[in-house]
Amino acid sequence: MSKREVIIAGNWKMNFTNSEAKAFIEKLAVNIGDSSCNVVLAAPFTLLSVAKEAAKDTGINISSQNCHWEQSGAFTGEVSAPMLKDIGVEYTLIGHSERRAYFGESDSTVNLRTKASLASGIRPIVCIGETLEEREQELTEQVLKRQIDEGLCGIQSDLAKNIIVAYEPVWAIGTGKTATGEMAEEACAYVRNCLKSLFTEEVSEKMPILYGGSMNEKNCDELLSKENIDGGLIGGASLKCDIFTEMVKIGEMH
Ligand code: PGA
Repeated sequence: MSKREVIIAGNWKMNFTNSEAKAFIEKLAVNIGDSSCNVVLAAPFTLLSVAKEAAKDTGINISSQNCHWEQSGAFTGEVSAPMLKDIGVEYTLIGHSERRAYFGESDSTVNLRTKASLASGIRPIVCIGETLEEREQELTEQVLKRQIDEGLCGIQSDLAKNIIVAYEPVWAIGTGKTATGEMAEEACAYVRNCLKSLFTEEVSEKMPILYGGSMNEKNCDELLSKENIDGGLIGGASLKCDIFTEMVKIGEMH
């Protein structure tokens, strides 16, 4: 059994209408009942209110996929942490590799967003991971260390324990190529060591680290059995309720 909470988080990315989201959550709630896993669904902004309503009285937690660092103001197209808190959102993804690759997200904006979400009482799921090129050049550890040191600097340890880190090798996202259990564990153990240096041993031991990247109902048991992998951030496989249900059930065994 995991020493830490097991988190099975779906990342819906830019998918679903409100009626599809509602139907998904209602079905999932019936399928999983009172799950021992922490089940989180990261939905697009337009679905959050309906998702929150559908998840009421279930154990399912709702996450946004981003949040801005300012509370309000002239930031057209952005949504702030207090605005998310206002509709009851409990989690937010931060620094997903698609935001880093296509929308100019950097370690310093990840840092600002992480601090803002913590200040509003929203748990950030901070995404990190190396590209294929970086892995081939044996830069994986250097990249992970930089993303952690710069993305999570200046945060007090008592707040840091609310952070969830998602290790998602970019080359494994949406490609069907999963890191082997050994590769993923090696990286996640390294991530925990970096967290230990930045915060304290006690805090780093409490922080959940998720694996993400083509995780599915077939490979998740092996990945979740690793000491430093406390859950999954699941993209493609989170769009099918039956498959996601299976993954929650597998998570319950860890
Ligand atoms: P994937 O996406 O499971 O489709 O690879 C994971 C993610 O991007 O969080």
